[in-house]
Amino acid sequence: SLGLVAPAEAQTYPTRSITTIVPFAAGGPTDVVARIITAHMAQTLGQSIIIENVVGAGGTTATTRAARAANDGYTLITGHMGTHAASVPLYPKLAYHPEKDFEPIALLAGTPILILARRDFPPKDLNEFVTYVKANTEKLNAAHAGVGSVSHVSCELLHSILDIKPVGVPFNGTGPAMNALVAGQVDYMCDQIVNAVPQINAGTIKAYAIATPERNPSLPNVPTTVEAGLPKFQAQAWNAMFAPKGTSPAIVASLNAAAAKALDDETVRKRLLELGSVIPGPAERTPEALATLVKNEIAKWTPVLKPAT
Ligand code: MLT
Repeated sequence: SLGLVAPAEAQTYPTRSITTIVPFAAGGPTDVVARIITAHMAQTLGQSIIIENVVGAGGTTATTRAARAANDGYTLITGHMGTHAASVPLYPKLAYHPEKDFEPIALLAGTPILILARRDFPPKDLNEFVTYVKANTEKLNAAHAGVGSVSHVSCELLHSILDIKPVGVPFNGTGPAMNALVAGQVDYMCDQIVNAVPQINAGTIKAYAIATPERNPSLPNVPTTVEAGLPKFQAQAWNAMFAPKGTSPAIVASLNAAAAKALDDETVRKRLLELGSVIPGPAERTPEALATLVKNEIAKWTPVLKPAT
């Protein structure tokens, strides 16, 4: 009988490829996390997932585009702590609201923040770094991925603890910012671990500390900020998938199930852990948990960050 037939949409979705917008340059942390997880989700869903890198304005250009996209399950966004929380206080004229304009799908990864520098930056450890940046503030170039990006707000927090205001050098993502750091064109950066592990292991950059209470298994030799003498600097970002508001609950459920399955896959987990990510547990993967995270993160960052304009 008709009563037993599931909605046509849920039965057939997806019937064509899905696009997820990444609000930063290819090769950076958001792009890397999105690629690892969506490759597995595509297998589950039986359709390819195309990554579209849309850069600019600390990720808010892309997030505005995603908010305005059709809510049919074929355009998604892989956002993060910046696009879906810190941008709210920083951009008074933000054209979207993370809570009102999106359906949360799933948290994908936690990404601890590290204080990184070009290989030949003079300070040898975090104590020397603190002394050096206080003494040379006007000369410093701190790279970031645009106002409201994770690298920007993480270093804003660091700078407020150190009571300094160095000049920031914006890039379209910390992928290109990392290239500049490796090339010695900028001095330091507060970046997500997934972007840093390969470079730290290759010895092309310096890592002063990881801003988490415990060391990360992917970087056993990098001290925590607690060990290195700056315990107040604690920072971990997160990456998550969202759909435009009004996307049907059946589609959200199907995407959430595919994301959860990816996070349980051994190969996906191994890759994420090699890059230092924190993999969300089952209770943290629900759309409801992501909605709560976004709400709490907006509340957390609003008093810390002043408008940029
Ligand atoms: C990126 O993918 O480039 C980053 O997530 C940028 C950032 O927010 O620092």
